[in-house]
Amino acid sequence: MKIYIPLDSAAKAVGADDVADAILLEANTRGLDIEVIRNGTRGMIWLEPLVEIETESGRVGYGIVDVADVPALLDGKLESLGVVEDLDWMKGQTRLTFQRCGITDPLSLTDYEAHGGLTGLRNAIAMTPAGIVEEVTNSGLRGRGGAGFPTGIKWNTVLGAQADQKYIVCNADEGDSGTFADRMIMEGDPFTLIEGMIIAGLAVEATQGYVYLRSEYPDAIDIMEKAVVLARAAGILGADVLGSGRAFDMEIRVGAGAYVCGEETSLLNSLEGKRGVVRAKPPLPALEGFLGKPTVVNNVISLATVPVVMEKGAAHYADFGLGRSKGTMPIQIAGNVKFGGLYETAFGLPLGDLIDKIAGGTLSGRPVKAVQVGGPLGAYMPRSKFDTPFAYEEFDGQGGLIGHAGVVVFDDSTDMLGMARFAMEFCAVESCGKCTPCRIGAVRGVETIDRIGKGDTDAIELLEDLCETMKDGSLCALGGFTPFPVMSALQNFPDDFATKKEAAE
Ligand SMILES: Cc1cc2nc3c(=O)[nH]c(=O)nc-3n(C[C@H](O)[C@H](O)[C@H](O)COP(=O)(O)O)c2cc1C
Ligand code: SF4
Repeated sequence: MKIYIPLDSAAKAVGADDVADAILLEANTRGLDIEVIRNGTRGMIWLEPLVEIETESGRVGYGIVDVADVPALLDGKLESLGVVEDLDWMKGQTRLTFQRCGITDPLSLTDYEAHGGLTGLRNAIAMTPAGIVEEVTNSGLRGRGGAGFPTGIKWNTVLGAQADQKYIVCNADEGDSGTFADRMIMEGDPFTLIEGMIIAGLAVEATQGYVYLRSEYPDAIDIMEKAVVLARAAGILGADVLGSGRAFDMEIRVGAGAYVCGEETSLLNSLEGKRGVVRAKPPLPALEGFLGKPTVVNNVISLATVPVVMEKGAAHYADFGLGRSKGTMPIQIAGNVKFGGLYETAFGLPLGDLIDKIAGGTLSGRPVKAVQVGGPLGAYMPRSKFDTPFAYEEFDGQGGLIGHAGVVVFDDSTDMLGMARFAMEFCAVESCGKCTPCRIGAVRGVETIDRIGKGDTDAIELLEDLCETMKDGSLCALGGFTPFPVMSALQNFPDDFATKKEAAE
């Protein structure tokens, strides 16, 4: 009997390791012949630990499983959720990037290949670098790290640059609030990221890659390091990638944990052992990146999506989505929400459907007041904007951003003036200090919001001016985007900025 128990850190945080130990102990005591496989998570975080037992009709799920449930589970008496693939949550998704996550043993290359792994790389090996870049360009894949910049165009710049050495750097800093897709794929399907980085290397003629991973992700670091060793031993990484005669190798590097180190130039400084401050652009990292050499800096999900693009073809991928937002997006649902987790779907789903239908509304049962999409620098979207389709241009048109597609839900007890203050304070704390609008502006911003909170309505105009200055004058998006949460809170929830004044009068 095969039993699957996730090793994902979200599942572990709610007791998956204890459940795995208890199952092994109980099976041993009973003399049962079982095989425990530690898989990644399916992304239904609210059901973790989600244990699956392989049956003739498919993998039957049990969740939330507690240690005390183990005897009943092995007796066949625990109530099941049914076949996991048939659950509405799973059936409603289009899993391309996460096709194997939760299904396979993350560190089994046999499993990986049996589920389509390495097909994309083999296809890429048969192509010219320019051919690979063209395929990725035609897929319409845009950077999933935040800015949504077309991946193929970035790769083309690096391919066209002349240098004795080029690099692929994977941005696994994942600092946005409510996001966990990068961690989830690294823990649940690490070879897809490795495969994506190798394909990127072949495409731009880079022979060395680095994954810049946050120190707060010990499990992801461990799994990625093991996966690199396994891939190297299997001849996937190294001097002769799958016998192609082309070289690509990579290392895992760990950052110390500052939000701004997710910004690509700051990340490169940190990777070089320098302080994580932002570099002015130009020069673009694509031309002068790591150690001054042409470098592709891509997010985990961007790179982890490349294998499926090369496996199924650009047209297949581009067929999903809405307008210029092609393909699928792994949406991470978090905050005050009933069904929190990762939901991969084609772009275009209305925000309201995501919140009310898929996420099931708030956990507190109170009405949803606002949703912040795109991390700490994303706008707060009120219910009146819930018709907005989940796509780059459509969100932009509503003053919002998709970013890394972290969705954090707030109920009606949330004080939006407090949230605006939090955004400013976040910027003040995380600022790298290189430019004045961000370094000084955020500190003055907190003071100004406090004045509004005390009833000084003149300070509202000052806050608006300050936000304009930060937007126009900041060197990077940390200072430049902080006005989004602040101004969206002020514009969409004016009552939260007025009540305190009335109370003071
Ligand atoms: C303050 C700040 C933090 C960022 N944090 C991240 C991050 O944690 N992960 C990420 O992939 N991109 C982050 N970015 C975006 C990167 O600068 C860069 O655009 C991205 O890594 C490019 O990869 P992509 O084209 O695949 O999205 C951040 C940007 C800013 C301004
Ligand atoms: S906006 Fe802030 S984080 Fe970005 S360069 Fe300026 S000071 Fe640094």
